[in-house]
Amino acid sequence: MGFNLEHIVPWGRSYAEYVAMFALSRFELQQRILGCGDGPAAFNAQLTGQGGRIVSVDPLYAFDAEQIRDRIVATCETVLDQARQNRDDYVWDVIPSVEALGRMRMVAMETFLADFVAGRSAGRYVAGELPSLPFASGSFDLALCSHFLFLYSSQLSPAFHLQAIREMLRVAREVRVFPLLTLEGQPSSHVAPVTAELKWEGFRVEHRRVPYEFQHGGNEMLVFRPG
Ligand SMILES: C[S@@+](CC[C@H](N)C(=O)[O-])C[C@H]1O[C@@H](n2cnc3c(N)ncnc32)[C@H](O)[C@@H]1O
Repeated sequence: MGFNLEHIVPWGRSYAEYVAMFALSRFELQQRILGCGDGPAAFNAQLTGQGGRIVSVDPLYAFDAEQIRDRIVATCETVLDQARQNRDDYVWDVIPSVEALGRMRMVAMETFLADFVAGRSAGRYVAGELPSLPFASGSFDLALCSHFLFLYSSQLSPAFHLQAIREMLRVAREVRVFPLLTLEGQPSSHVAPVTAELKWEGFRVEHRRVPYEFQHGGNEMLVFRPG
């Protein structure tokens, strides 16, 4: 797969953050959900615990729990230092401080790690990577992508984004992507060309406000559906 653990910084969000980032209703939480690039987030573990049906796909899942834990420990302080240095780029209300951010993320990642071995055996954590997913067409109702597409706009081209979103729309009836900002906190310049192309191909594309904002101005998701 060519995915090197030394190059990645595992960082996982909580279940509550996922529900808010994607404005998920109780009904939607009961659907068949695919999480693309979920990494060490707690969403899969907690939703499964509540009886939900979710599969997460991420190249990180090719590694074992100890390797992932070691990498989290090795990189966690660096991520928090960056948050301290760029404090003004974030909204400190629900998450009141960098220290609280660190605690919240570590709880989420511990929840993931505690679930990972059983979840991988059950087929809930699948090693794979966009833009090519190892699932049959129409396998899911909803595909979610948090903090991967658009966030890494400097590293991932508009063509990659198009391929990735088309692929998610192949395996799911609806796709939601959050945030629409880059790592630097700027609106991604890929949003306009990617949405224009997918509309031209006949997909319905909607910008929707969500009840979540941590990066300043990062409170919108894109929703894609077949036309
Ligand atoms: C910033 S993390 C976000 C984790 C999680 N979605 C969250 O919001 O807490 C980005 C994730 O994208 C994953 N990733 C990297 N390349 C990918 C690819 N080609 N397809 C899917 N996921 C990928 C990384 O392994 C990492 O777990």
